[in-house]
Amino acid sequence: MAKSDELDLSENTGRKSGRDAQRMNIYAAKLISETVRTTLGPKGMDKMLVDSDGFVTVTNDGVTILKQIEVDHPAAKMIIEIAKTQETEVGDGTTSAVILAGELLKQAENLLDEGIHPSIISKGYRLANDKALEIIPKFKIKIDDNEEVSKQIAMTAMTGKGPQEDKEYLAELLLVAVRKVSENGVFVKERVGIEKKVGGSVKDTELIEGVVIDKERVHSQMPEKVALAKIALINTAIELKVLEQDSKISINDPKMLESFIEMEERMIKKAVQRIVDSGANVVFCQKGIDDYAQHLLAKNGIYACRRIRKDDMEKLSKATNARIVSEISELTPKDLGGAGVVYEELVGEDYMTYVEKCKNPRTVTLLVRGSTTHIVDEVKRALEDAIGDLQVFKGEAVIGAGNFEMRLSMQLEKEVSKLSGREQLAAVRFAKSLEVIPKTLIENAGLDTIDKMAQLKSQIEKRNLNCAINVYNGELMDAKLEGIIEPLKVKERAINSAAEVAIMILRIDDVILSKQEKER
Ligand SMILES: Nc1ncnc2c1ncn2[C@@H]1O[C@H](COP(=O)(O)OP(=O)(O)OP(=O)(O)O)[C@@H](O)[C@H]1O
Ligand SMILES: [Mg+2]
Repeated sequence: MAKSDELDLSENTGRKSGRDAQRMNIYAAKLISETVRTTLGPKGMDKMLVDSDGFVTVTNDGVTILKQIEVDHPAAKMIIEIAKTQETEVGDGTTSAVILAGELLKQAENLLDEGIHPSIISKGYRLANDKALEIIPKFKIKIDDNEEVSKQIAMTAMTGKGPQEDKEYLAELLLVAVRKVSENGVFVKERVGIEKKVGGSVKDTELIEGVVIDKERVHSQMPEKVALAKIALINTAIELKVLEQDSKISINDPKMLESFIEMEERMIKKAVQRIVDSGANVVFCQKGIDDYAQHLLAKNGIYACRRIRKDDMEKLSKATNARIVSEISELTPKDLGGAGVVYEELVGEDYMTYVEKCKNPRTVTLLVRGSTTHIVDEVKRALEDAIGDLQVFKGEAVIGAGNFEMRLSMQLEKEVSKLSGREQLAAVRFAKSLEVIPKTLIENAGLDTIDKMAQLKSQIEKRNLNCAINVYNGELMDAKLEGIIEPLKVKERAINSAAEVAIMILRIDDVILSKQEKER
């Protein structure tokens, strides 16, 4: 890698370093793509990630793998970035985006070897990408039953992730959740929370109409259940303020200690009294609750939980219409939220707090169960992918299992062959690169790729348009009939972001370490 003060700007070496930089970037990006390639599709393998503390994650989820591997190379980081963007924007298709980017760069490398200039390749790729975006809507399937297709989308998203025998059960649960939180047909995924608890089986996963918090009440004398809950959300500690800050108090004689304790008690009493006066019978506190405060709250019949996660506080606020208060002295009845019932229940080995029949009924929580941490974590990720897919679905879907990419590749190749100039060569390679998705699905199933790809192409040429390779038995199938359906947006985003990152990497011809970085 060229360092800034070592840069030789003479024509020859400059050009050489440009090619070196390109090769190195392409190599790094391809390596990242190779890492996740084996995880694609229902027969994709999982990866076991072990961090420096020995913490193990077993997953099939592209973005989860990429987020956890340590990478220093800037081009590799750019590839990982597209997986992250895909994840935040659409939630699924992260592996596909990365594999596609890797293939686009591999094809570009061949073109570079043939002496084609990177800017011509970029131009060809851009033209092909624009054309692809233009023709993608043609592959939309006709949808008669939105509910049925939604279920198929959810199941397709969960294929290959977590225990497969439970995916129909989970998809159905998810659809109920979507129906409950949707408003005028619009589904906002943030309204579906996911909590997990080890124990039981995946079939014990349940849908709660409201919020579930992974916390127990802080004191055994508090009520286990509160009907018609009036909920206060407090994000400061319910303990003595001075102790919260880093102040030092020197106490020289026992009397001082006594009066100090008295003062402390007085202040805590005052804070609790304020809560009682507001009319709250449930308190969720983001910070700690002092022992004495716990005792007083219990005495007043208040149900309280401490150290609630910030995102849970926000969820509770949305669900119950409570305002999060940072000064207890300012708590008023108007700040309280409402729920039909708040109660504690034993789930697995721990107690959790259920907040149900909330003021705002459009909040639900899926409580994921499973026999090990790895299972509940992977089921949660599978559900998150499915939720992302359902949010972006909006009535537009295409056929999965490699069918969409194969047909788009064939159609696009025809279209871009009409282009003139050398960029046409690159545009055709772009079209060919899309084949990597069906090819990898076949490869990961241990089937003969050349043979199966030829079969698939010839069927599509014969206008057998729903055709795909069944990765379980190697035969041809009607993938639409099999319900392997994915949202159009997920596919479109994956292709578009892969194209963008490939073009960006191709256009870099120098990697210069800045001075600042060097001195570190
Ligand atoms: N039953 C099936 N048969 C064949 N292919 C399937 C089946 N179900 C899903 N697929 C295909 O598997 C691919 C998706 O695989 P996978 O979920 O592993 O990766 P991804 O969605 O690209 O990334 P992510 O890791 O974010 O989920 C899609 O091309 C999809 O059409
Ligand atoms: Mg997926």
